[in-house]
Amino acid sequence: MYKTRYCSRFATTVLNALLNFCCCCVLDHVDEQQTEAYKKLEVLLTYSRQILTENDLGGYTIPAKGLYPYQWNWDSALVAMGWATFDEARAWEEMTKLFSAQWDDGMVSHIVFHKPSTTYFPGPEIWGSVEKPRKSTGITQPPVAAITVHKLYEQAVNKELALTKVRELFPKLLAWHRWFKTARDPENTGLVATLHPWESGMDNSPAWDEPLRNVPVDDIPPYVRADLTHVNSSMRPSQAEYDRFLTLVYRFRAVDYDCKQLYYLSPFRVTDLCTNSVLYRANLSLRWLAEMLGELDVVPEIDEWLEGFRVAFSSLYDPAVKMFKSKDQLTGKLLNASTSAGFLPLFARIATPSQAQELAATLEQWLSCVKYGIPSNDPNSADFEPLRYWRGPIWAIVNWMITDGLLAYGYDALAQRVESDTYELLGSGICEYYDPTDGKPAGGGSFSWTAAMCLAWLGKCATSA
Ligand code: DGY
Repeated sequence: MYKTRYCSRFATTVLNALLNFCCCCVLDHVDEQQTEAYKKLEVLLTYSRQILTENDLGGYTIPAKGLYPYQWNWDSALVAMGWATFDEARAWEEMTKLFSAQWDDGMVSHIVFHKPSTTYFPGPEIWGSVEKPRKSTGITQPPVAAITVHKLYEQAVNKELALTKVRELFPKLLAWHRWFKTARDPENTGLVATLHPWESGMDNSPAWDEPLRNVPVDDIPPYVRADLTHVNSSMRPSQAEYDRFLTLVYRFRAVDYDCKQLYYLSPFRVTDLCTNSVLYRANLSLRWLAEMLGELDVVPEIDEWLEGFRVAFSSLYDPAVKMFKSKDQLTGKLLNASTSAGFLPLFARIATPSQAQELAATLEQWLSCVKYGIPSNDPNSADFEPLRYWRGPIWAIVNWMITDGLLAYGYDALAQRVESDTYELLGSGICEYYDPTDGKPAGGGSFSWTAAMCLAWLGKCATSA
């Protein structure tokens, strides 16, 4: 059913022209517009494959040259979906390489420093992880990996390789998800904590403004930001945010990232909607993988986690504004900001049908305010900044996740709008993010996970029709 829906939503836009092209090519005339659409998509797919290949540093893909020169956790999991469209073995390698740096306690770091680089700050010297076996940061990121492994296996042409890889990766995924439960929900609330804005992947989201205000800036060593040599400062997090990001790193390093202590000592502790939505969905995938492998012993454990999420998730819904909100665990308050992460419970399939209906209405309202969707911050809010990282710009990976959720709940027309917007945006360049007011590409260029979304989402959809 999902596949039927997935393909049927191309009723309009350029991609629809491509579908018509496929049907019409048996007839003897193909109009110019359709040929153009086909060519445009082909160019985009070829370019996306080229970006992944050029950002391949040997079994792992950097997000972007210069700006992000190491292996990032959720970037890699999403990028593997792109690799899988033209090189399955390479897609599996991406996952293997990410888990090669898994910590003994099960954590999978947000950055793995496989090879030295001089273009990024804070590198391994700051994290105190220059030496093997660590060579990675002491914090994590949204756990997309199990979702990727599930997808890669289901879509695999080489099932033998896929099964070998799933067998190899399953215990590592399980260990990571267990780590989330024990290290990030030691009080058994049902939802997991995020202890650093970098763990959320949405570093300077307006949702973190309030909790970051409660993080005192320590007397940290002077530092020079490398990000500002690659991207204009108007598109990046502020200096005040960086001071707090670094303060947290030094505090965590002081206890050698001991996860038992971090939960209690971190002055930043939130229930992040993105991490919790992704983890819920990832647990559904993990459960699926467990059943497929016959690892039935672990199914009740995963079911218990899933049930915990379902019970606790409703506390994150704010009916007054028809949105899910992240929460400050240290004050117990829902955070004010409405951000695109608020739609991710759709991706998780954890929103109730009536919440989904309200979210769809909220999304429609947002889209009526901008030329392209989906802005990462409510375009009606005073702190909406269309070009500044997670305070307004559009991210293709978020568009994919929300579209996937909209389809699952039957909001096909809305999903189609987001998909068409994404296609148009990517047509103007495969970059880090886009300005929702005019579609201008921004942030880092030749960006791996955007290229991966082009291949795994937009391109796949067209070619599988
Ligand atoms: C950065 O350096 O901007 C990254 O988002 C941290 O993960």
